[in-house]
Amino acid sequence: MTGAGATTRSPVLAYHLSPESREQFANHISRPRLVDGAPDQPVWLPPPEAEALFTFASAWAKAPADKPAGWPFNLRWIQLASAGVDALPAWAYQGTVVTCGRGITARPIAEYVMAALLEKEKRISDFRVRSVVDYRRLGNEHDWLKIPLGGLAGQAVGVVGLGSIGREIAGRAAAFGMRVLATRRSSSASPLAFVTLRPDAKTLASEVDHLVLCAPSTRETKHIIDASVLAAAKPGLHIVNVARGSLLDHAALLPALNDSRVSMATLDVTDPEPLPAGHPFYSHPRVRLTPHMAWYSATHHQRLTAKLLENLARFSRGEELTDVVDPATGY
Ligand SMILES: NC(=O)c1ccc[n+]([C@@H]2O[C@H](COP(=O)([O-])OP(=O)(O)OC[C@H]3O[C@@H](n4cnc5c(N)ncnc54)[C@H](OP(=O)(O)O)[C@@H]3O)[C@@H](O)[C@H]2O)c1
Repeated sequence: MTGAGATTRSPVLAYHLSPESREQFANHISRPRLVDGAPDQPVWLPPPEAEALFTFASAWAKAPADKPAGWPFNLRWIQLASAGVDALPAWAYQGTVVTCGRGITARPIAEYVMAALLEKEKRISDFRVRSVVDYRRLGNEHDWLKIPLGGLAGQAVGVVGLGSIGREIAGRAAAFGMRVLATRRSSSASPLAFVTLRPDAKTLASEVDHLVLCAPSTRETKHIIDASVLAAAKPGLHIVNVARGSLLDHAALLPALNDSRVSMATLDVTDPEPLPAGHPFYSHPRVRLTPHMAWYSATHHQRLTAKLLENLARFSRGEELTDVVDPATGY
């Protein structure tokens, strides 16, 4: 963003900020004025004097299809805490610059992905011993550990979306001795020498043992993993979704799991979220569901606040903001 001018008292709307973040905001060098909306006020109807809005994507889930009269009021900038912006309606970009929390959660998510890959290969929870009976069930006292475990070294992982999350995954997978393949939207070269690009998800899925989805939810990525991709997948593929449920066609995944073409699906995200009661994924032996928590870690709020304050400093100096969302591509 340019031309915002050096603002010494930028009105800033402090929706959803933790008390610690709020204090850090209040003490920021630009001395912003923090303005709270009424508790029942929707986030898209901010106090009229607010120039900047700090908010979580979830607050936009029920945003109207049409922009409210007067939008964007005095707003020039919307900063979302999350990397994903799919909850934001198209009209929110009219008259504003939207920035996102790209990268804040990349490391915890990459660690979650490695945990999922290791769980698939090492099966620690399958072989957990709670009693002497378990020893007999898994073998017997004298003849145990007869089940060979898998390993990551020499396997291939495919990363759909080589952004902040995909790159963190790639580095960790390579450290485990895995081959790393990826797709991205643009035709740009691979940013990492050890990552080889593939033209599309189908080619990628046919070559890898683990396929990790970490691209944004956009029109282009809706069901990017569909029945045709699953039919072409390397037999026994493990799918990990840490992006959004919309990338994966669940109706196509179920038969692929049932006939073992897909040996396991680790799903941190689903569509809808949560899945309805009684959905087969809740009890499917090949599905590991987690409640959209791969991003969360003890240092999250520190990293989030650091990102917001950096952009606030830029805003107050009239400089380009970081992690600007392109409304044309949707990320
Ligand atoms: N589970 C969770 O808790 C959680 C937390 C944070 C984020 N997320 C999700 O993860 C997504 C990615 O986050 P990020 O920070 O890594 O985003 P990012 O840094 O913006 O990277 C996005 C990557 O996806 C690629 N991409 C976009 N469209 C694609 C397509 N049609 N086919 C293949 N690749 C495509 C981009 O390609 P280019 O490199 O060519 O631009 C880029 O490499 C977010 O949008 C969000 O939905 C989930």
